[in-house]
Amino acid sequence: MAPLNRRMQKTSDIIWQDTQHQMLFELIEQIKIVPFDPDILSRLKLYAEHHFILEEAYMRTLNYPLIEAHLEAHDRFREELEAMLETDPTMHEALQISLSDFLYKWLKLHVLGIDKELEEFVLGSERK
Ligand SMILES: [Fe+2]
Ligand SMILES: [Fe+2]
Repeated sequence: MAPLNRRMQKTSDIIWQDTQHQMLFELIEQIKIVPFDPDILSRLKLYAEHHFILEEAYMRTLNYPLIEAHLEAHDRFREELEAMLETDPTMHEALQISLSDFLYKWLKLHVLGIDKELEEFVLGSERK
């Protein structure tokens, strides 16, 4: 996972956002660990919520014009995770890998897409 973070690292990144994204990627990687630990999904849910709430607070405070689409994207992730939390805790390895890969791809697209747009907006504002 570390290589993605290194590729994304720039001096202009918002540090808290970057650090939290890295933590989310690491938790998503841990879904693959055998035997499966259902607590990982709970920890991912808690940490994702913490992260989303912070981004959403920035968007509201700064009257971010693209807030609706971004909130919808966060809500979709929340729903996916919720569904996964209802999955059989004895899930087998192939499912662990596919869930982890799905979340990883989702987060990568989100971070490089609308999160990047938000970051640029925040960096251009007076409340970084
Ligand atoms: Fe984010
Ligand atoms: Fe986001």
